[in-house]
Amino acid sequence: MPWRVPPGSASLSAPIASGSGVSVTSGAPIPSGSGNAEPPIDALSELASGRVAEGREGLSTTELGYTPHELPTLKGSGHPTFKNPEQRVYEVWVSEIMLQQTTVATVTPYYTKWLIRFPTIKLLAEASLDDVLAHWQGLGYYRRARMLHEGARWVIQNGIPQTAKEWLAVPGVGRYTAGAIASIAQNEPAPLVDGNVERVVSRLTANQASAKSLTDAAWKWAESQLLPGHPAQASPGDWNQALMELGATVCKPVNLLCRACPVQPWCQAFAESRVADYPAPKPRAEKKSLHHSVVILTHDGKFAIRPVPEGRWWAGLYEFPREASLEGLNLMTEATLSQFGQFNHVVTNHEITVDLYHAEAATPTQDLIWVTEEELTQYALPAPSQKALTLWKKSRAQKTLWEQETSPD
Ligand code: ADE
Repeated sequence: MPWRVPPGSASLSAPIASGSGVSVTSGAPIPSGSGNAEPPIDALSELASGRVAEGREGLSTTELGYTPHELPTLKGSGHPTFKNPEQRVYEVWVSEIMLQQTTVATVTPYYTKWLIRFPTIKLLAEASLDDVLAHWQGLGYYRRARMLHEGARWVIQNGIPQTAKEWLAVPGVGRYTAGAIASIAQNEPAPLVDGNVERVVSRLTANQASAKSLTDAAWKWAESQLLPGHPAQASPGDWNQALMELGATVCKPVNLLCRACPVQPWCQAFAESRVADYPAPKPRAEKKSLHHSVVILTHDGKFAIRPVPEGRWWAGLYEFPREASLEGLNLMTEATLSQFGQFNHVVTNHEITVDLYHAEAATPTQDLIWVTEEELTQYALPAPSQKALTLWKKSRAQKTLWEQETSPD
């Protein structure tokens, strides 16, 4: 990962797979390309300028592993977090959770900002859920943030797990995350399998199984590579990350780079000249169509939002009122609704057509939360509400322009 460098490495920004010296083979080095290898400029300059977020202020070097102002000057002296193993555990934990279902390029700015706002497990555990969700806003799959928060509280109560098996007891930590933290941060020869590793194993072993059978086979294979006596045992975190990186950058779903692949001599699919046939294609899931109506209800420059009702998608976040039917929306206000847009939003196997309405309320009703546009930034809004807001602002801007152009003077 761009923000994670191996012990003794020279640069804060060195990509792990190409710089770690992992001996997958003696062939060509694995190109690093899954991410942006630049240091997180925004966060670094924020730290360097002294505009350090409150969370980090006042933390001692032992709590953090480094002082806030030390971070930008550490180039050439190794990664700061190695001074504090617990801090390393936390940073690996956060990044592995963020990286689930999300690319390195998207995660990088969130990760650096997160560590400024919630620099330690303790400060994350003490934060409010609203604050946590607001800092996750835009990353999606908010359950990850909720569980990370719950997990931090669990760790503060029960202590830091020392093995992959113990990590499984932590809320939000499944066997992938347990393997990642234990191997990368705690040097345990614990296996892990993500989608990339699954594809690599399918090709290396010419396994045409799909779904759960392939997953089971990949876990067995990953375990077998870390048994005593295997060279990967010496550096299990590097081994696991190299496997994931191989899948992300070389052994890709399409545009494979077999000629640059360091394990090509051992690849059974390559030997059969059938690499693209592995893994077996997944049956396509049908998307279900849904219709939602969202209302931007305003009063005197303020917006009405509400907590997303329990049991619905995005529960725990805040949203502009959203119902499956217009009738549901009309019940909330006497004001006249006018439609100003529409967009489609995909959630797992559902495609939602969202109709957008605006209404100016005569009075701010008590059952809703009324906030200014600036205050709105403190609430975590799910993607449909964010899109609704963007389109609302666009529609306002167009209206203003039109009014200016058509006004007599
Ligand atoms: N994907 C998720 N975590 C990763 C890691 N630590 N190294 C490479 N790819 C990853």
